[in-house]
Amino acid sequence: MIEAAFFIRTGQPIGTISPRLYGHFAEHLGRCCYDGLWVGTKAPVPHENGLRADVLRALQALPVPLLRWPGGCYAEHYHWRDGIGPADQRPRRLGLSCGLEVEDDNSFGTHEFMELCRRLGAEPYLAGNLGNGTPQEFSDWVEYCNSRFDTTLTRERAANGSPQPFNVKLWGVGNENWGCGGNFDAETYAKEYRRFATFLRHVDPGAELVICGTGDVRYTGDVWNTAVLRTLGPHIHLVDHLSIHQYWIHGGPETGFTEAEYYALLAEAATTEQFIKRTAAIIDAEAGGRRIGVALDEWGVWHPEARPWGPGDVDRRTPVTYEQANTLRDALAAGIAFEGFHRQCNVLAMANLAQTVNVLQSVVMTDGAAMWLTPTYHAFSLHAPHIGAAALPVELVHNAALPDGASAVSATASEKDGQVAVTLINRHISQPAKVKLSGSGTHTQAAGRLLAADSPQAVNSSAQPDRVALAELTPYRDGDTWYVELPPHSMATVQLQ
Ligand code: AHR
Repeated sequence: MIEAAFFIRTGQPIGTISPRLYGHFAEHLGRCCYDGLWVGTKAPVPHENGLRADVLRALQALPVPLLRWPGGCYAEHYHWRDGIGPADQRPRRLGLSCGLEVEDDNSFGTHEFMELCRRLGAEPYLAGNLGNGTPQEFSDWVEYCNSRFDTTLTRERAANGSPQPFNVKLWGVGNENWGCGGNFDAETYAKEYRRFATFLRHVDPGAELVICGTGDVRYTGDVWNTAVLRTLGPHIHLVDHLSIHQYWIHGGPETGFTEAEYYALLAEAATTEQFIKRTAAIIDAEAGGRRIGVALDEWGVWHPEARPWGPGDVDRRTPVTYEQANTLRDALAAGIAFEGFHRQCNVLAMANLAQTVNVLQSVVMTDGAAMWLTPTYHAFSLHAPHIGAAALPVELVHNAALPDGASAVSATASEKDGQVAVTLINRHISQPAKVKLSGSGTHTQAAGRLLAADSPQAVNSSAQPDRVALAELTPYRDGDTWYVELPPHSMATVQLQ
């Protein structure tokens, strides 16, 4: 049995854990939007105006405070006008993202997305098309969504069912423009951004604009971020957030991974915090004192089974899905990322898991009429008490080390309404852990929830939807000190009051 001890410093918050750090990302890719979130109004599965009912319920319970759409790479050839107006009159387009070609009937468009956000209580985050769109097209979308003036576009919005503006604050101005979004060099993209952003701000001076930054997977190094911000120079005021993407790709196969691969994935998840810190340092150096948030608007595990980015089969007949198994290991990796998000909450402006349903590290999966929650769903659920809370410093008193030198047990804590929430991860693959929690406050009651399974390889499926599920955990007390016992490869949240 491993022994670990932490001291929670209440009353000295690091900052606020914005609900935007628990955001999600839904792209028109594979079965995320079509078939996952949206089944259409004629679907055999229960739906609410075309939104899949069981998925809706699951996401409402999570919660989902922020949702980015429609891409990803899809955003860079999406023309928003295709997705408004009577569904049967919308054009059928060749949907393109990440090397896929699909038939897209545009039945899930702006109004359907806004309705989804309304039902989820999610803030919408729209990614606009800089790659093959124009500043006019993008400005029109902002006007259509946000303007209070009586214009042809806002009359059209009203005729399509929404007299009130949608008031979308967050707008991504391009996506991965170093790659799928136009293969720009940094300087050329920054100049395009400047042109687009100028007109977007004219339409809505309150819009929060997100500039495309680097993604670790295919564009390594931080050179892009420095060059983009430096090129903006005196126009840096046009930038509110800098988007970065990180996918963890070094954990071997989705299941059947070795012990070394188990630890490799967790270690890679931990590097996300370094990426956030490095990006914040570049902003500090290049933004001339302007406060620009780091927007980690795509993150998560990308297993080889979800196939590499690109066209895939030459004849394009085999369905390519970007789907992958989601194990307890992946949920622990998400928990490790959350620890870093909390510590960096003063510079991290948002984070969006890729992707919500069926694709990559989804929280929900569907197969015909079946729907199940992935272990990553439960990781989010365990962290719900931290949303909007004050992040607290956690001091490591003593701990055991993993083979790679990392702490075997890790912890993050927050405080809200007099309650302290502590999430613990026992990363050790085979050893249980006894964890001692003490702090500067006195708490007389505690409750806990545990995410565990017999193996880190455990997955949920339509046949076994609850193989990895949350269970009650009972902390025990000795004076002002609380104790919990965690099985190997597990995660738990303890709430003290
Ligand atoms: O999430 C899948 C893809 O990964 C996104 O479309 C793109 O932005 C990234 O390359």
